[in-house]
Amino acid sequence: MLTSEENRTLTETGPGTAMGEVFRAYWQPVLLARELEVDGAPIRLKLLGEDFVAFRDTSGRVGIVEPRCSHRGASLFFGRNESCGLRCAYHGWKFNVDGQCVDLPTSEAETAERQKPEAAIRALKVTEYGDIIWAFLGDGEAPPLPKLEFAELPASHRFVSKKFQQCNWAQAVEGGLDTAHFSYLHAGISEGQKTSLLGRMDINEPPPIARFRWLVEDGIPKFTVLRHGSGLVLGASRQADDSQLYWRITQFMMPNHSLAPNTFPGETCQGNSWVPVDDRSCWIFCFAYQLERDLSQSERDRLAAGQGIFAEVDEDFVPLRRRENDYLLDRDMQRGSNFTGIHGISEQDAAIADSQGFIADRSRELLGQTDLGVVRFRRIMLQAAADRLAGIAPHGSNNAEAYRVRSGDAMSGCDATLPEVLEQRFGQYAGTSIE
Ligand code: FES
Ligand SMILES: [Fe+2]
Repeated sequence: MLTSEENRTLTETGPGTAMGEVFRAYWQPVLLARELEVDGAPIRLKLLGEDFVAFRDTSGRVGIVEPRCSHRGASLFFGRNESCGLRCAYHGWKFNVDGQCVDLPTSEAETAERQKPEAAIRALKVTEYGDIIWAFLGDGEAPPLPKLEFAELPASHRFVSKKFQQCNWAQAVEGGLDTAHFSYLHAGISEGQKTSLLGRMDINEPPPIARFRWLVEDGIPKFTVLRHGSGLVLGASRQADDSQLYWRITQFMMPNHSLAPNTFPGETCQGNSWVPVDDRSCWIFCFAYQLERDLSQSERDRLAAGQGIFAEVDEDFVPLRRRENDYLLDRDMQRGSNFTGIHGISEQDAAIADSQGFIADRSRELLGQTDLGVVRFRRIMLQAAADRLAGIAPHGSNNAEAYRVRSGDAMSGCDATLPEVLEQRFGQYAGTSIE
């Protein structure tokens, strides 16, 4: 539970807010690289409550600029993306990706040259990394880009996409860190009983199948949360067969990246970046990657169609099953085969996060023992906000290497601790300076 004041601090990211300042101390993923074509249509973009227009110029460089033309305020969204710049459709002033006014055709040459410096508009620092366009919304020097493994691997190993979510960023993240809910929200139903997501509860299956039974059989995972150089590593252990423990290990990297569990060695890793659009919606970037091999075309096609953390989305990356249509909730399916009656893991997550309200009221909660991950997430974020106000760089912002971490599933003996499991499962990729 948070006070109303703390809840506002956690959730509000607009200009001048404490958490807004935290976000503006890090690079943010803002568009998929494939959304912008050379000399193609500019895109309207809202980030942390601020409006921008994004375009890719003739040389392939990306510009993300304030939408307001400095002449008389027309929107550059209506502009023409031509010959290395965006030309305002009203009187033809033209701006390059750095926001400089490079043509001012309504004045004689001498006056135009004099006015050009003053006519410059705000342009964000931009870079491309991991098939994603990243921007830095802060003032001053940008920090190093976080070394996220999906982006460091060859492009053939990864698939990236995004989905629009109609609630505040923080409760969406909390859904990603709260692995207790898998025992309920993502369960199946058979003859009135909760059952494995796979619809069967056979014993003697290998761990990648048996885990879905263990998830249903043990709905009280034991959480251990440790801090590392870029955020938190969260371990949740459940009873498995033969006195073993089944661990789901999640990573949270400041201020808004996470790596999902649900992968044994060799399986495709998945993660998210949760980027506030405003305080009532966010973009969730989704990445899937193989550590040792290319992703096949059929694997890419399945992810693109909506699988795991990937939603089934329209051409604007808005999920087909969303707030306005109650996620196409099917009560017959809910009675007969699926705990929620909503098709798709991603859509189940979205529905339940949205259902907490556009901004979840954390002053009216009754937290329990499986909420430790959520509590620690809130604490590290509120600490970052306090640090920022005190002039201290928020956690991880200057430590790009500390983002080189992995998540996944593991088996252990019944009295293993999380540090032991991390060491055995991930070695150097568990996180740096774990405490
Ligand atoms: S308002 Fe843009 S050129 Fe006049
Ligand atoms: Fe989930």
